[in-house]
Amino acid sequence: MKRSEINTTIRQADAFMKMHGFRLPPFAYWTPEAWAAKGEEVSEIVNNNLGWDITDFGSGDYQKVGLFLFTIRNGSLENLRTGQGKTYAEKVLIADVGQVTPMHFHWHKTEDIINRGGGRLAIKLYNSTPDEQLADTEITVSMDGVRRTFKAGETVMLDVGESITLPTKLYHEFWGVDGKVLVGEVSKVNDDANDNRFLEPAGRFPDIEEDEPPFYLLVGDYPKYYSHYLA
Ligand SMILES: [Fe+2]
Repeated sequence: MKRSEINTTIRQADAFMKMHGFRLPPFAYWTPEAWAAKGEEVSEIVNNNLGWDITDFGSGDYQKVGLFLFTIRNGSLENLRTGQGKTYAEKVLIADVGQVTPMHFHWHKTEDIINRGGGRLAIKLYNSTPDEQLADTEITVSMDGVRRTFKAGETVMLDVGESITLPTKLYHEFWGVDGKVLVGEVSKVNDDANDNRFLEPAGRFPDIEEDEPPFYLLVGDYPKYYSHYLA
């Protein structure tokens, strides 16, 4: 993706969230210059990958196959291993009309996907087979405390206010319908490096063509700008 496209997406996403009364934490608005001057006290943001995150899943066409994300909170793999401390995560996502997040599941993360405003969210579901392909079996999920059963490959619609709990190894693909959707995600610790199984190979973080300076940093930019970064 071009940096100019990422910058525009950030500005539009920020306006869309504000329109829905959804406010981000202060670190969302730190400039690249401010980031360069930060000390070790902000290492949690960097180590746990909090912040702006935009991906086209390697498609080269963000509007068609892509997702806007902002990770608001997230624990570490250490929290996950010990079961102590921050064992949870929260994100806000924006899915535009027909903009697909491709079919994937998570080995370890259970996540609630919540429609917080805008259009409807369509989610297509499949159980997975032991060899991690699509199963043809019925799916049972919890939607706001109500157990529901769907056919393999059925598309579930979430209206504003509704949510669905996606257990581990349940394949899901989603996109917006009728209007851009403000989506909440509340989950177990999020590990994008190791916990995403895409049915078709997909890139999780975009290759960036630097055609202008970054407006705000993406999580993938921290190594370059944050001087206390520890790989
Ligand atoms: Fe997911």
